[in-house]
Amino acid sequence: MPPSSTETIGPDLIDVWSWKLDMPVPDFGTSMTLLSVDERARAERFVHERDRQRFVAARSGMRLILGRYLGLLPQSIRFDYGANGKPAVPACGSSSIRFNLSHSADLAVLAVSDRYELGVDIEEIRFLKEDIAKRFFSGREYRTLRSMPAEAYLDGFYRCWTHKEAFVKAHGAGLSLPLDSFDMIFDRQGESRLERLEGDPDAPGNWVVLELATPVNFAGAVVASTRGHRVCLRYRDEDIGAIPGKVRGGFPPGIA
Ligand SMILES: CC(C)(COP(=O)(O)OP(=O)(O)OC[C@H]1O[C@@H](n2cnc3c(N)ncnc32)[C@H](O)[C@@H]1OP(=O)(O)O)[C@@H](O)C(=O)NCCC(=O)NCCS
Repeated sequence: MPPSSTETIGPDLIDVWSWKLDMPVPDFGTSMTLLSVDERARAERFVHERDRQRFVAARSGMRLILGRYLGLLPQSIRFDYGANGKPAVPACGSSSIRFNLSHSADLAVLAVSDRYELGVDIEEIRFLKEDIAKRFFSGREYRTLRSMPAEAYLDGFYRCWTHKEAFVKAHGAGLSLPLDSFDMIFDRQGESRLERLEGDPDAPGNWVVLELATPVNFAGAVVASTRGHRVCLRYRDEDIGAIPGKVRGGFPPGIA
């Protein structure tokens, strides 16, 4: 049976759902049945069993959640893919849904809006074997990072990384968007924001950057094209559906 009532969001909110990806074996079988033929084929191609299970847990979780907004059974949702692989659900009449998924280690997060194009990124904070900031960040971002005290560097690196990645994912251009063509403000002095996008002087007013309240060993951000409208994140802490072992991911901290 499809969900009897559908979730609503409105113009002022972006919903944030999170869940753990490592699950008991019986739940894996149930989760598999929610996937489409192409998703199952993709799952089969993973070399490592843990990566396969996490992919299945992420996709089935995303389907369970989106089904609540769309009033559809999770297994009946059909995804379209943009030129760079961004999944979307085709608009139906006047209703549309925008969403984006990110996963890192055993955690998944899904951001959902009923109107704004968006992107989300989470990363587990790990010691950097090699400092790749100079290669990936703009000159301005790199200077901000270098000016931080040593104990704040790793946190700053992951904040900048997730802000940038969430913007790339929201923008939809994928890796064809040069990473030095835009600057993110990510220090803790004020609000996170986009300060510059090459060739688009209006961009800073059009995009909003919202930092996620993640568990301590993660960093994350949502970026959305709200065209100046103020929005807040609404953390959803309900169980996400039919699979008993699917547990919430601890957003914001304390919910786990
Ligand atoms: C694929 C990519 C979109 C994100 O990759 P990622 O950070 O490894 O992975 P995430 O977990 O955050 O996101 C993956 C999910 O985003 C979604 N996605 C795929 N392509 C997407 C795209 N072009 N735009 C937005 N979302 C996309 C999918 O749902 C995907 O999960 P699934 O395929 O398991 O369902 C791509 O941007 C990428 O490879 N980025 C790395 C580029 C980089 O160097 N970034 C440096 C930032 S400083």
